[in-house]
Amino acid sequence: MYKRSIVITGGAGFIGSHVVRLFVNKYPEYRIINLDKLTYAGNLANLKDIEDRPNYRFVRMDVCDFEGFSALMREEHADGIIHLAAESHVDRSIKDPFTFARTNVMGTLSLLQAAKIYWESLPEGYEGKMFYHISTDEVYGALQMNRPEGIEPPFSTAASSSEHHLAYGDDFFREETRYNPHSPYSASKASSDHFVRAYHDTYGMPVIVTNCSNNYGPYQFPEKLIPLFINNIRHGKPLPVYGKGENVRDWLFVEDHARAIDLIFHKGRAAETYNIGGFNEWKNIDIIRVVIRTVDRLLGNSEGHSLGLITYVADRLGHDARYAIDSTKLQRELGWEPSLQFEEGIEKTVRWYLDNQEWMDKVTSGEYQRYYEEMYK
Ligand code: NAD
Ligand code: DAU
Repeated sequence: MYKRSIVITGGAGFIGSHVVRLFVNKYPEYRIINLDKLTYAGNLANLKDIEDRPNYRFVRMDVCDFEGFSALMREEHADGIIHLAAESHVDRSIKDPFTFARTNVMGTLSLLQAAKIYWESLPEGYEGKMFYHISTDEVYGALQMNRPEGIEPPFSTAASSSEHHLAYGDDFFREETRYNPHSPYSASKASSDHFVRAYHDTYGMPVIVTNCSNNYGPYQFPEKLIPLFINNIRHGKPLPVYGKGENVRDWLFVEDHARAIDLIFHKGRAAETYNIGGFNEWKNIDIIRVVIRTVDRLLGNSEGHSLGLITYVADRLGHDARYAIDSTKLQRELGWEPSLQFEEGIEKTVRWYLDNQEWMDKVTSGEYQRYYEEMYK
């Protein structure tokens, strides 16, 4: 008999796999159910090291499957849902917004409604957070780039790089910042966030929402900037930099996000929002240079060897200029802070991709999609 039974959606994806691994390893007394449809972004090889654990179960299911999810919660006596499943890539959302509305909006709503009916059936005395929704800083829109000399973030952290300017403007996304999404992806995430809060405000269901900045680390699908560029450098392929490469993103090591999710799931206050980020802003072109330097060094290439691969291409439509998260609330209330300096995190990440070329090659060849059939036949 397990102490708790938690459904984690999107556990075969990038961040979800780190959250599942953390929970399965850290809480053998919890039953962890990974619910994932296995879209192109889902890869069960991300969880190879824990797939045989007795407290882990994988269920292939679409978040839009209302009946299936309702039955799963009853069968597993679920007492909490951590919802990460989503379509997550901005460029894809520009080409195919409907899929984003279906999964991110309708899928979240379907889970919420099923969770509410199930939550209402629970005996008096339930004190958990029934629905923990993982969202993004992109819902807040874009910040100005107006850095006069000497601007520092309100709270410096271990994630901030020693060699790098800390902030590119005098404003940050705070929990009370007005939503102003620009891409179909961020519009769909914003919509799902509103639905989650509506389920608290209307029905009283205990929910929590967190909005995190850009994650990087192992197991990220190589459509996203950092793994795509590491792999292209390895193959001597062009590195497509959108626009002038001046856009700013705020980067956090994925395991630090997973630790924050664990902390907030257990200690955060229901109905609250927490922003998660490490005060670690980088212009794309600067981060690209760091990635090139690190890959070249680890591959034994001369310094600057791969700089010529940088290729400026047409800008992303509606490309947000700057994201920067103020995570002071999370740091003050729950004592979370990132564990890594950015250079350490990038080094760890590049090493991981270079040491796990088989993982990358199976993803780029499409072979990874056969893993499920082989494992679960
Ligand atoms: P990802 O694209 O790597 O993984 C998404 C997972 O969801 C995949 O395993 C996929 O199979 C699954 N999925 C997609 N549609 C589904 C459906 N209809 N039913 C069931 N499963 C489905 O995404 P990620 O980068 O790990 O992001 C996870 C969550 O975190 C998302 O909600 C995203 O919005 C949020 N987020 C991501 C970042 C980031 O930098 N990657 C930052 C902040 C927030
Ligand atoms: O901020 C959080 C968000 O971070 C998450 O909600 C999203 O799910 C996640 O995908 C990520 O969104 P971004 O659009 O910021 O990440 P991406 O890796 O696609 O791009 C990072 C920056 O690099 C962005 O400014 C666009 C630029 N870029 C990206 C790619 C893939 C390039 O210049 N060239 C590229 O080829």
